Amino acid sequence: MPIFKRAHDLHAFLAPLRMHGKRIALVPTMGNLHTGHYSLVTLARRHADVVVATVFVNPTQFGPNEDFARYPRTPEEDAKGLSASGCDALFMPAVEEMYPYGPAQTVRVSVPGFDMLEGELRPGHFDGVATVVAKLFNLVQPDIAIFGRKDYQQLLVILRLARDLAYPIEIIDAPTTREPNGLAMSSRNQYLDAEQRERAALIHATLRRMQAELAGGARNLTDIEAEAAKRLRESGFVPDYAVIRRAADLGIPAEGERRGLIALIAARLGSTRLIDNLLLDE
Ligand code: PAJ
Repeated sequence: MPIFKRAHDLHAFLAPLRMHGKRIALVPTMGNLHTGHYSLVTLARRHADVVVATVFVNPTQFGPNEDFARYPRTPEEDAKGLSASGCDALFMPAVEEMYPYGPAQTVRVSVPGFDMLEGELRPGHFDGVATVVAKLFNLVQPDIAIFGRKDYQQLLVILRLARDLAYPIEIIDAPTTREPNGLAMSSRNQYLDAEQRERAALIHATLRRMQAELAGGARNLTDIEAEAAKRLRESGFVPDYAVIRRAADLGIPAEGERRGLIALIAARLGSTRLIDNLLLDE
């Protein structure tokens, strides 16, 4: 599997493939890859002839007090794992390749309507994500691009980005890969010690409980949300939110609205921030 550090070389690799009508899939990542990321590559394979993964820890999506500097970087392992999971090419640019003039951009891509939840707690985060994903779309010009439901709000942002800017790219969402105990796989799970990893299973268990309570009927959503947050706090988490929202746009459900909802949790365990969600109709 070829590894490209320069956009120019990636173009040279992709141009003849595109000319021969090959369908190209893009799987963007920040590296430190795990089974969840590799499942995106497997899914991409089913939809395309050529799978291009990118590994780039994007500085513009990290806040000043976030973990950009200590974000785990494992390029050799990532390349091996991608090759083994059937990826055809890896684009692994340096920051200067993606941001030759620094973080200020000709156009900072800003997707409206998502300033709640992660958008509220991580100001500027989705601008950074949308900007780098737009750049990757322009660089790779894929036919399809795969994003995980694990980062559900990000997925909605990308769907809107692709439609608003009229990218001729099909966005495909992938289910969340979990540890046997239910913990959603994440590069940030590395920050957890063994005991915390076990305890972190409570996030998924709480989402399931929220789902069961909703299915059970009567109670209003704010009660379910309050109890979920309480449960998390009692086990030593500091929840940022534990909410039920409309899956289509993360709006607050109307009175009595019970279909098309999603439960979302963000909670800190020690210094590690974990997010997860569950579509409640599933
Ligand atoms: P990263 O966190 O590395 O995630 C890359 C992709 O893998 C995202 O689409 C994410 O939703 C998906 N993913 C992560 N954990 C997963 C799991 N347990 N199961 C299935 N899919 C999972 O998300 C980013 O990077 C960045 O914001 C990026 C889109 C690359 C832009 O910089």
